This record gives sequence, structure tokens and C-alpha cells, in this order.
Amino acid sequence: VVLVLDFGSQYTHLITRRIRQLSICSICLPAGTSLAEISKLNPHVVILSGGPHSVHEEGSPTLPDGFFEYAQEHKVSVLGICYGLHLIVKLLGGEVKQAERQEYGRMEITAVKNSELFGDAQSFPNQVVWMSHGDEAVQLPRGFSVVATSLQGNIAAIENSAAGIYALQYHPEVTHSLRGMETLRHFLLEVAGVTAEWKLQDVLTEQIELVKAAVGPDEHVVCALSGGVDSTVAATLVHRAIGDRLHCVFVDNGLCRYKEGERVMGTFKSDLHLPVTCVDATDMFLSRLKGVVDPEKKRKIIGAAFIAVFEEFSVQLEKELGKKPSFLVQGTLYPDVIESCPPPGSGKSHSHTIKSHHNVGGLPADMQFKLVEPLKWLFKDEVRKLGALLEVPDSFLKRHPFPGPGLAVRILGDVTQGNALETIRLADEIFVNSIREAGLYDEIWQAFAVYLPVKTVGVQGDKRTHSNAVALRAITSEDGMTADWYHFNSKFLADVSSKICNSIRDINRVVYDITSKPPSTVEWE
Ligand code: XMP
Repeated sequence: VVLVLDFGSQYTHLITRRIRQLSICSICLPAGTSLAEISKLNPHVVILSGGPHSVHEEGSPTLPDGFFEYAQEHKVSVLGICYGLHLIVKLLGGEVKQAERQEYGRMEITAVKNSELFGDAQSFPNQVVWMSHGDEAVQLPRGFSVVATSLQGNIAAIENSAAGIYALQYHPEVTHSLRGMETLRHFLLEVAGVTAEWKLQDVLTEQIELVKAAVGPDEHVVCALSGGVDSTVAATLVHRAIGDRLHCVFVDNGLCRYKEGERVMGTFKSDLHLPVTCVDATDMFLSRLKGVVDPEKKRKIIGAAFIAVFEEFSVQLEKELGKKPSFLVQGTLYPDVIESCPPPGSGKSHSHTIKSHHNVGGLPADMQFKLVEPLKWLFKDEVRKLGALLEVPDSFLKRHPFPGPGLAVRILGDVTQGNALETIRLADEIFVNSIREAGLYDEIWQAFAVYLPVKTVGVQGDKRTHSNAVALRAITSEDGMTADWYHFNSKFLADVSSKICNSIRDINRVVYDITSKPPSTVEWE
């Protein structure tokens, strides 16, 4: 295992992803994880991520006492990235200072010949990398040497090969570091001697066994099936493990897309052969959400309302089965875990909470169910591959993601305002259908319409109108953690805009969102 210790960088998850892309098992734990927890994992390599702090800040995250002695004794290779480099330098007796020439963004570096970290760098001694640091190492600890410098003359990489400790000032995990992946591969396979044998098939077998072990032989499990990739794959996996002791429920909460319930229930039956009950809980959800404007409050209310439905569903099941289901399946993914709360293990996370994704942060503390989350170590693309191994049809696997809180986070403000729900459903349907017709659905990670609670002046049929606006959002992304807006051609956008304004009475303006993530998030709330 390659353990990534998270010092709070927004890129930490990417390090884990990149390593898995090399078919190497990698997991991420927060800085502050104890040495005992680390040694339980018996890692071959520990990577220290970047982070927003300076090593000089009071209380900035650090490594547990005895970490380097442990690494030395167990022949664990260590790679520091950015803040990780500063930490290595500081803790081993070197000096880190605020950089005179701070480096943010693209930078060219030059590697020395024949270092361990870059190998025989003859084929690419100069490379473009992505820097983002305010501090720099000015004096190295004993045994270390500089193995790459930036065009500005700053230290870009250091190593102490005898001790098995290496560090990069730049971020090899981001695609802007053009040779970053090669450097990581070389480090892990050639320098640290890790073998690339991690396969999704093994993850699948392991998760099926874990579900079997966690759920006793007489116990029953409830699963909320939304029709999205995650819950569908999670349900299929759990069904493989425990068969018909799995009871799926599709909750129509009034926040679904156009004709979603009808469509999804149809395909569950015809393609997936999973036992699914449809519960219409529209009134309950919408009455709880009436007048609520704060996005985080909406998420929490929705999380609690879902749980109330599952509990009611399990009371009904108890009547049928003579036993209450004690587990709930959630299609939680790794990014949800990273963004919502500290990953499992001890210690606290040093990254900021961005949103409480309802399937993690919004669950009530007094919930009756134990959770089964077989996908919580996986990224979306990995879940799609796992789904293919489980023979889940492409019609599910290729669907764009849809957030748990549904249209509630796509209607800014009160979801019950006017006919916002109806309006946004139609606009969304027109937009996504146009994307399908143009053959663009599979290149786009996610596309949807957002209801803006503003009225603007328009002129329709020679009359002045004062109606609502919708925003369209379409993005490309690898995993939803970072995203770029999709560059449609202008004719496509013009056609969609006129279709929307011509067919939805309350809309007289359509805008297109041209913001990436960061600085925005994918959803507007
Ligand atoms: P954000 O808006 O956080 O979205 O950049 C990243 C991805 O997560 C989805 N998303 C959610 N999924 N519950 C979910 O299950 C949520 O509360 C939630 N909020 C965002 C979003 O659609 C995108 O794919």
C-alpha cells in the first residue's frame, strides 16, 4: 500500500488517484494519524501531500513523533510534495523560509543527471511543472542533495537516497506537470520497488466478502436506489453479496428530474432485476423544505427526510419479514468522504469542508441504521469500471451524476417558490436532450439547468415580460473534484436558448456558466 498523508491540499485526492491509475493500491489518511495507525497499514511508501499551511505557523500539521525512525526501520520510502518537502526539511534539521521568489503556476525545472528520483533524466532534463508555494527550503538536512532546480533558481526536488527520503517542491499529480505521472511512476516502481498489481476485480471480490462479513446471515439491508451510477453499482454489489436480503427503495422526493421516477423504475425492472419499491414522498420533502434558503440547511433537511423514509420503509419490511433491516447501503464515493469530513482513521482533516454531501455529512446522528458503503474508497471512474465488472448496463454507467439533494441544489433559494421545480425540469430536459441529439452526452461529465430566483426584463411576442432566468452548466471532469466548463459551439447554445425561451412560459433569459472548479463548484449550491 502507498499511504498518502493529507496535509490539506485540494490536490491530495489526485495523488491517490494517480497512484491507483498506475495499478498500485493507495489510500489517503489525514495528517495527525498516529504512528500506530500508520503501521497497521504496513505501507511500502508514505507520501506527504501539499497543504495550505506554512511549517512555521503555530499548530500547523506535522508528522507523528518517531515517523522517520519508523520509516527507516521498516524500509518505507518517503516522498514529500510541496508542504511535505518543507516538513521533511524542517523536521530533519534543515531550514525553511518564506520564499523570496514565490512560485505559483507553470514553471520550468531542470533535473541533475543520474539522481534516483529522476533516474537517467537525459530524455527530459527540463520539464514544465506546476508550482504553488510561498515557503522554500534554504538549507537542506544532512545527507540530502538538490536534484532539480527551477528556472528561478529555487530548489525543485531533493533526495537522500541512502535514507529513502525524497521530495518535490512542485505538484507531480496535476496534469499541468507534464512529466509528473512519469516521475511518480519512476519513483514508485523503480525507486521504491512497489509492484503494480492492484486490480479492480480484487477490490470487487474484497468488497463482496466484506459486505458478507459485516451483514450477518439473518440480517436484511435497505438500499436507496436513485438510478444514478453510484447507488446502482452499490446495490448490485450488495445484491451479489447477500442476494434477496437486499431491499431497494426508490424515493420520489419531488426533487427528481423530468419523468425520472417512471423512467428509472422501468429500467430497474427490465435491466437490473433488482427488487425495488417506489415510495412517493414528495409532500413530506417539499413541506420540510418550504421557505428554506440556506444550501447547507437544505442538504441536512433532505438527508434527514431520506432517513425518515428509509426508517418507515424498514418498519413496513419488518411487518413482512418479521425482522427489521439493520443496514443501509449508501453509494458514497471517495470524493464525498474527502470533501465532507475527515477520512476514516484517527486525527483530524486539515482541508476545508466545502459542502456537506447529503449522503455523508447530512445523516442524523441518531440514525437507526448501520451503513454499508462499499464504494467509499473509489473514485467515479473506478466505480464505472467496477459496475462494468458487475455487468451493470451502460445506460446506468454512462449517466451523468445527479446530486443526492436533486433539484434542491439547482433551484437557488426556496425550492417551493412559484413553479420553479416544473420550470427547471423542463429546461433541464431540453438542454440534456439537445446534448444527446448533438452526440455530446458521453464527452460531458455533467450538464444541467439551474433556476435563478431573479426576474429580468424581456420582450416576447412584442410584449414586455418580467420573468425568470435559467443558467446552463456543462462541465468536463475526471472525478468531479476539479472541472472545466464545456466549450459548446455558439450555434448549439443559441438553439438551446431559443428552445427553452420558446417552450417555457416563465423563462425569458438563458445564461451559460463559464466557470471552472475551482473557483466555483459544479453545483450552484
Ligand atoms: P460540487 O458541487 O461539490 O459537485 O463541486 C461535485 C460533484 O458532486 C455532486 N454533488 C453531490 N452529490 N450529494 C451528492 O450525492 C450532494 O449533496 C452533492 N453536491 C454535489 C455534483 O453533482 C458533482 O457531480
